[in-house]
Amino acid sequence: MATDTAIASKFGLHGATAYTRLSHVDGQAGELVIRGFAAEELATKATYEEAAYLLWTDRLPGAAALDAFKHDLVRERRLPGATMALLRAAAQQAIEPMDALRMAVGTLTLRNEDEVAAATVAQRDGLAVVARFPVIVAAYWRMLRGLEPITPRADFDHATNYLYMLTGEAPSASRVRALETYLVALIDHALNASTFAARTIISTQSDLISAVTGAVGALKGALHGGAPGPALQTVLDISAQPNADAERFLRDKLARGERLMGFGHRDYKVRDPRTYVLSTAARQVYEAEGQIDVYQLAIEIEHIAVRLLAEYKPGRDLYANVEYYAGLLLHGVGLPAALFTPTFAIARSAGWVAHCLEQQQANRLMQPQSVYTGSLHRTWVPLQDRLSSLLPLE
Ligand code: ACO
Repeated sequence: MATDTAIASKFGLHGATAYTRLSHVDGQAGELVIRGFAAEELATKATYEEAAYLLWTDRLPGAAALDAFKHDLVRERRLPGATMALLRAAAQQAIEPMDALRMAVGTLTLRNEDEVAAATVAQRDGLAVVARFPVIVAAYWRMLRGLEPITPRADFDHATNYLYMLTGEAPSASRVRALETYLVALIDHALNASTFAARTIISTQSDLISAVTGAVGALKGALHGGAPGPALQTVLDISAQPNADAERFLRDKLARGERLMGFGHRDYKVRDPRTYVLSTAARQVYEAEGQIDVYQLAIEIEHIAVRLLAEYKPGRDLYANVEYYAGLLLHGVGLPAALFTPTFAIARSAGWVAHCLEQQQANRLMQPQSVYTGSLHRTWVPLQDRLSSLLPLE
């Protein structure tokens, strides 16, 4: 029985569960395709708005369509008073940013009186999700530190505006480009855990806000979107040592049975393709910020980690995943580690919406099967005859 449980938990819900035209992962070849484009190409060429439009419509927008789409997003940025009140209450209790985001997503059901006209409720809510995620995260981050939120600027695009709302200063072009590369590279990734959660919820004929709330909860965990902070911390801890010995540091972790965060992936058995563009973007931003030594140390640590993982976990094919370079890049862009996972949510929000819209178009209740590994044919024992009643609950 234990073996069955081990097998079931090892493979998880790994079979095909949905048809999708949005993105495709080839874990052996190390390829991620988003709406027919290699993710690396999109990440280096598209703005976040272009990538979101592409995901939702399967078309690259012309200039007029892109302008209209950006205009709709800008109009949706304003947070209802109730959302602000909730964030202020959360800040008073120093709630974690991902939990504050998860609570605030629920308030997106509240509408502004000048809401954007959309073909369906889900499309309207999708615009609100994508437009308001960065506003929520930036406003909350400032409230947490006793600062007043900064009003979004209508002349700033999505990535620029996010950085602006965090600091109140117009960000440098290198920081914006690095962040945009990150946001587009992570916009969608087939049926990852949080997207699966969103599709499952919407498949019950629930609503998009409920689905996205569930996705935020799924993304928060350390094995999914919670990895970049700890991954970056490894680099910072090693660089803080007087005589930095990366190999000793990583060996000690592995010997203690710890996982190296930012390495390994359920799908990729080679280096995650997104690491190439994120690594290049990170290098550019660290060069621009005059901190190339941090970047170089991270590269060195990756090589040592991959070698040690092959030694300690032979045959598991463990390589750097997207989170390793995400943490490094976001640190270079000036974001605190506490905002890494919320920023991942900002990136993935358009993907969650796209999956929900796609699920609604050809819906069938998502209900994967489980493998029963419990007992069979037990005989009921009356209460007075139960000898094992003092045994603890399993
Ligand atoms: N460090 C050390 N060992 C590892 C690591 C790692 N990062 N990843 C996997 N392993 C080992 C496991 O201990 C296990 O060893 P065992 O066979 O001796 O028990 C084996 O490799 C297989 O691991 P699983 O957990 O079964 O593999 P799974 O496909 O379920 O896990 C996961 C994928 C969760 C990403 C895993 O590699 C991990 O925990 N990595 C660290 C966390 C991380 O970086 N998460 C971000 C993922 S990317 C994303 O979500 C966007």
